[in-house]
Amino acid sequence: MLLNTLAVVPVLLALCQGSLAEKMMRPKFKEVKIWSDEKFVSHKVVYDSSDPHLNFSMEVHQELQDVDIHLEVRITNKVDSHYTTNLNTTLNVCRILGFANQSPVGRFVHGFIREFGNIIDNCPIAKGSYFINKFWWPEDPTTAMLPELEFDIIWQAHLLDAAKKRTLIMNDHFTGEFNVQDVNNLKPGIFAMLPKIA
Ligand SMILES: *[C@@H]1O[C@H](CO)[C@@H](O)[C@H](O)[C@H]1NC(C)=O
Ligand SMILES: *[C@@H]1O[C@H](CO)[C@@H](O)[C@H](O)[C@H]1NC(C)=O
Repeated sequence: MLLNTLAVVPVLLALCQGSLAEKMMRPKFKEVKIWSDEKFVSHKVVYDSSDPHLNFSMEVHQELQDVDIHLEVRITNKVDSHYTTNLNTTLNVCRILGFANQSPVGRFVHGFIREFGNIIDNCPIAKGSYFINKFWWPEDPTTAMLPELEFDIIWQAHLLDAAKKRTLIMNDHFTGEFNVQDVNNLKPGIFAMLPKIA
């Protein structure tokens, strides 16, 4: 009994030292289509899967009065295709920024993203360069029991003029799958992000 317990110790130590790979569910992109109108905005999205991060850059050529983001997300379980999750929503960027500036949770999320670059703060959106570099969400180790999932994401931005006329200015389409991988570069989990108590 005691021997068994002792045999566990080196394993625990190895885990603590992080010398074992951890299981993590990460996206693998199959197809990425990025489109911008090039008159109001130009933008680029790049992803690196080995040191997972996204870089997003956007050039605003003319001041944007008001912008709606339309997001469609479809997540399909490859094992049981009847099990799918859909999200189909339209959000107003200027209202989100109002929220981000006023609520503590909004400020936390906005502050988290702001650390990665120069992001939009206010509406109308001024001419200029905006970017998010080396962005990655915090992750937590997972188990290999999760099913492999396919994703299909459509991200569109519409400019709203004073007459509320909508003009498509960005239209991106990402497809791929989330699968469980052994990784040794886990990004810190959500708890690691909370402010440290000195
Ligand atoms: C993202 O931007 C960072 C900082 O500029 C750079 O080091 C990195 O190579 C970029 N990643 C990709 C995939 O281009
Ligand atoms: C999402 O909603 C819009 C408007 O409500 C609709 O036109 C579109 O077909 C929907 N997309 C999907 C995939 O259901």
